[in-house]
Amino acid sequence: MNFVLKSLDLSQAALQKADALVVLVGENPPAGQDELSVLIRHARQSGDLDAKAGKLLQLYRQGGVSARRVVLVSSGDGSSRQVRQAVTAAVGALKGGKLKNLVLSFATQPNADSVSAAVRAAVVALADASYVYTTTKPKADARTLEQVVIALPNAKPAKIAFAWGQALVQGIELAKEWANRPANHATPSQLADAAQALAKLPRIKCEVLGPKEVAKLGMGAFIAVAQGSAQPLRFIVLKYQGAGQKQAPVVLVGKGITFDTGGISIKPAGEMDEMKFDMSGAASVLGTFQALAHIKPKINVVGLIPACENMPDGLAVKPGDVVTSMSGQTIEILNTDAEGRLVLCDALTYAERFEPAAVIDIATLTGACVVALGNVRCGLFSTNEALAEALQKAGDTAHDLCWRLPLDDDYADGLKTNFADVANIAGRMGGAVTAAKFLQRFTAKYPWAHLDIAGVAWKGGAAKGATGRPVALLVDYLLGQAEGSHAA
Ligand code: BES
Ligand code: MN
Ligand code: ZN
Repeated sequence: MNFVLKSLDLSQAALQKADALVVLVGENPPAGQDELSVLIRHARQSGDLDAKAGKLLQLYRQGGVSARRVVLVSSGDGSSRQVRQAVTAAVGALKGGKLKNLVLSFATQPNADSVSAAVRAAVVALADASYVYTTTKPKADARTLEQVVIALPNAKPAKIAFAWGQALVQGIELAKEWANRPANHATPSQLADAAQALAKLPRIKCEVLGPKEVAKLGMGAFIAVAQGSAQPLRFIVLKYQGAGQKQAPVVLVGKGITFDTGGISIKPAGEMDEMKFDMSGAASVLGTFQALAHIKPKINVVGLIPACENMPDGLAVKPGDVVTSMSGQTIEILNTDAEGRLVLCDALTYAERFEPAAVIDIATLTGACVVALGNVRCGLFSTNEALAEALQKAGDTAHDLCWRLPLDDDYADGLKTNFADVANIAGRMGGAVTAAKFLQRFTAKYPWAHLDIAGVAWKGGAAKGATGRPVALLVDYLLGQAEGSHAA
């Protein structure tokens, strides 16, 4: 989809050729004497266009408007949250009809302090509502929306936010598309190819390790998960360099289980297809790098993706097997379905070599986190207050929410075993926390945070599909770390 930003007041925006015009109406309706402005004021006064964000009124072949279809939608207080609500509602109302060209007009100029956030929210919400998966279903439902003009009386103060919004959208859509791919179209090797493709962008480099290199590194936990699969594992190392060599990087670690059957501790058949989404953490790392390449912040970022399938097989790891992780700690694998933490722990040890400023892992790690937080907020765990706060704030700003959960040492009691340094599962209770406690054992050397995205990375049911979360949170956090400065 192609976005264009233009300085146009409402009467000018109404004359743009398009299939539909969406007008965002704030708390104060437009004051102009043009036909549309007068109509909007009447609609507000009569109560037919409630001021609540997302309330809308549809018009057809309205005088003074080029587009056949018009949606007037209230954007509440004009905050990014309410703009997003309004845009989502308007696109929902327009769905079904043929829609190639759209004009989205802010009826009045947003406040100086909210204009950037409002425009960014509009771009992200528009893209989100009109994304269509294409990899294995290219023609049937291909996206109809081709061009969107974002119009506001004075576009100048929104220019940067508009560009960043577009970069963010590209990242979110890359994450969605890869997470949505079925496992036979997103093998560990194909995921590595996608990462290699990103290295064509400026400032990005990519290195891919295979089974031999990973064995040499001593990643016994990662290897144990991969050994039941005919697909060879890949360990992907992405680097974005926007700052000097000496600046410590932020390391993102994405769980890249391209399919999780559970292994020998096999999962029930119902909805097992959804375990193709078990590489959503990895997809969010790819998406974040895509966005970084276009936003160009002055910061260094490393992306690590341990990618493999978790399969049952004659060679598969068995419950009770003990393996040695790269850290040297031995692990008793009591349940082969708790595989995410096994691939992550070796990646977390590998992260040490970058002497990172912070390490954030992103993983569809536990069903327990879905039970705890549902699909609104992902779980946030951290050993570092400043990091936790920054991530929580980034989530709030980007409307990609997280919620902090505890890491008390008592939660680790259940991980004790007579046969190794640690077991890979504890009891049934507090499963999201015990998984985090397992990971924490491998993170002593740097500030660390863990995002359990099991509940938010995809939607089930009729709207089944990846959400692209938490790319927006990660990008917002990283831009904050760059202190608003940008590489040339
Ligand atoms: N990928 C799953 C987590 C998951 C489950 C995400 C359901 C979304 C929906 C993970 O590998 C897993 O299987 N975790 C187990 C851990 C258990 C065996 C301790 C779980 O949550 O059931
Ligand atoms: Mn599993
Ligand atoms: Zn899994």
